[in-house]
Amino acid sequence: MKPTMTDRLGRPLRDLRISVTDKCNFRCSYCMPPEIFDKYFKFLPKDEILSFEEITRLSTIMVKEAGIRKLRVTGGEPLMRHEVSKLIAMLNKIEGVDDIAMTTNGSLLPKHAKALKEAGLNRVTISLDSLNDEKFRKINGRDVGVQEVLDGVRAAEEAGLGVKMNMVVKRGMNEDDILPMVEYFKDTNVILRFIEFMDVGNSNGWKLDHVVSKKEMYHIINNVFPIEPKDANYRGEVAERFVFKDNQNEIGIISSVTDAFCSDCSRIRLSADGKFVTCLFSGEGHDVRSVIRSGATDPEIAGFISELWAKRDDRYSEERLNNTDKKDIKKIEMSHIGG
Ligand code: GTP
Ligand code: 5AD
Ligand code: SF4
Ligand code: SF4
Repeated sequence: MKPTMTDRLGRPLRDLRISVTDKCNFRCSYCMPPEIFDKYFKFLPKDEILSFEEITRLSTIMVKEAGIRKLRVTGGEPLMRHEVSKLIAMLNKIEGVDDIAMTTNGSLLPKHAKALKEAGLNRVTISLDSLNDEKFRKINGRDVGVQEVLDGVRAAEEAGLGVKMNMVVKRGMNEDDILPMVEYFKDTNVILRFIEFMDVGNSNGWKLDHVVSKKEMYHIINNVFPIEPKDANYRGEVAERFVFKDNQNEIGIISSVTDAFCSDCSRIRLSADGKFVTCLFSGEGHDVRSVIRSGATDPEIAGFISELWAKRDDRYSEERLNNTDKKDIKKIEMSHIGG
């Protein structure tokens, strides 16, 4: 095995998040607000999107030469990409990958869960921001009911996939939905995680006032369902873990805003159009598509990756609150890099 590649802050590269499409069948107000992502919005043309072969080649090099052990397929909505389970099967053949996961809104899982599991997917992380049907239909901007997502959860479980549930909490939008979500999932095998609303991209109208802090969420939950801390699963885990005192089931809180976790960040993102993005809040990516399409050899591609990782010094979330003067800097949209 190659020696670990580290960046300027000594962080190894471990985790590759692959966005397979910038399209989504939802229009969540905090991610793809419908007034911006409307019928005139220009999504990526097909020839600019990496093929499954290109993604697999890059992933193989990343695993063999750059220390990647975890793959996560994201979007937009990854299940909008035609035959994405074929890609999972191709990635599953790469030797040395410990885990393949997918982040999805869940609505298309009833159709795809079984094929995904058979192709080698281990787990899914599904997003759901409220159990209140009327509210959820508004949040997702496409009038999709809660039951459709819950059907997706069920399909995933029936197929044998592990399931985590992400809920983005935004003040004024859904802080009242925290406790109903806890109550609903607490005695199930689904691991629920609450995410502080983040200032990703430039379209979601983020304000600090909208953030419900980890501390506040902790108290809301603990006052009704007592919880206690649990050690991280692995170094650099994004969620801070807790367990319910009564049944030891896990929940998590992801606090990129009030308690950043950059110091252990071992994640790189590959956008659907073939750019490596070294931070969720980067302004631009590093174009590997033109490298691969210009006929570069595997060692040349590995060299491109090691060079960009060696230069990396991103720690946006740790610096965010001191950098309010940089509020208007250009950032890549969440739907381009899948969170
Ligand atoms: P596992 O621990 O492997 O289950 O996955 P995860 O928690 O990394 O995955 P997930 O995609 O569900 O991420 C949860 C949330 O954390 C999403 O909203 C992401 O946008 C956010 N997140 C993930 N990685 C980072 C990161 O590097 N920086 C920041 N600021 N947020 C992140
Ligand atoms: N802040 C926090 N989480 C977000 N997500 C999308 N946009 C934001 C944001 N602005 C979440 C999605 C999904 C995950 C990949 O990121 O709900 O669960
Ligand atoms: Fe919502 Fe996820 Fe689609 Fe963004 S990518 S609009 S968060 S479902
Ligand atoms: Fe990593 Fe950037 Fe997120 Fe910090 S803000 S944890 S460096 S992706």
